[in-house]
Amino acid sequence: MEKIFSGIQPSGTLTLGNYLGAIKQFVELQDEYECYFCIVDEHAITVPQDRLKLRNNIRSLAALYLASGIDPEKATLFIQSEVPAHTQLGWMLQSINYVGELERMTQYKDKSKGKEAVSSALLTYPSLMAADILLYQSNIVPVGDDQKQHIELTRDLAQRFNNRYNDIFTIPQIRIPKVGARIMSLQDPTKKMSKSDENVKAFISMLDEPNRIEKKMKSAVTDSEGIVKYDKENKPGISNLLNIYSSCSGESIESLEMKYEGKGYGEFKQDVANAVISLLQPIQEKYAELIDSDVLDDILDQGADKASFQANKTLRKAKKAMGLGRVKKKKK
Ligand code: TYM
Repeated sequence: MEKIFSGIQPSGTLTLGNYLGAIKQFVELQDEYECYFCIVDEHAITVPQDRLKLRNNIRSLAALYLASGIDPEKATLFIQSEVPAHTQLGWMLQSINYVGELERMTQYKDKSKGKEAVSSALLTYPSLMAADILLYQSNIVPVGDDQKQHIELTRDLAQRFNNRYNDIFTIPQIRIPKVGARIMSLQDPTKKMSKSDENVKAFISMLDEPNRIEKKMKSAVTDSEGIVKYDKENKPGISNLLNIYSSCSGESIESLEMKYEGKGYGEFKQDVANAVISLLQPIQEKYAELIDSDVLDDILDQGADKASFQANKTLRKAKKAMGLGRVKKKKK
């Protein structure tokens, strides 16, 4: 069976962008592939985190994965820092990852811009991300559009390692959804919707209550033309809302354009809000049941065991290929 790995940072409550770009695909793929879904807490600490908030976010993300439909019988759900092989292989991959390559990463440039103290882990983040993926011999990595550059680097690193040492790693392929790969900010539709945006009106959190979602949709930046039409260049706000609506409801963008012909933005925005609310409400209900349950701990314990078993197999091969450790002498 082909394998899948993907991860999400527990750096705040997930947004609608995370759901539509990532989790939605995960749920669809878990029936056909051997899946590993990870809460990448070691990635989150590449920027400063509050200890207690991080702990809460980790648990909350685990509950959100499950509430969204990840089935622990089918997929392995685990926390990155509970499987030490990730940082071990991450370090080994740093040794073949060039500083120049890392400095070219747009995520690094964006997150370090204007900052005085930038952690070295923020720069070497992609080596750890490559380790996440390569440890599970993943064939496919489902992600949103913004992770493209990191996956390309992962492929380069896997090829470099295989050529230099031994053919250990499967070369993974990226999988980006047709609709919903890049959900934009509601306040600046030329920017990606992000959970770390300072302006809370810019994103919809997966745990936002219905009236909050309505308010945020109403204040979403659009244009003054009054025509519901997909045109990313000239109408980025409306195009983003069409994308959201289509991803949430399953209706095509063309049929939505027809449905709103001659109608104003008010009615359209209200219907986008309704589509988002009907998608998120059942997830929020399940989340409330899960967040304080001990089922969650059992699932994460089992997930860490299963993931460690697979990850250690690959780690052993990679260490041997690089010449790390030793070969024990046979006792005479
Ligand atoms: P993160 O935590 O920023 O985002 C998690 C997933 O959500 C997708 N995403 C979006 N999709 C559509 N529209 C948006 N506005 C949007 N914002 C986020 C991301 O593309 C991602 O799929 N580096 C990764 C985490 C990671 C990872 C991995 C992913 C670590 N190791 C290995 C895949 C495989 C990150 O920061 O994602």
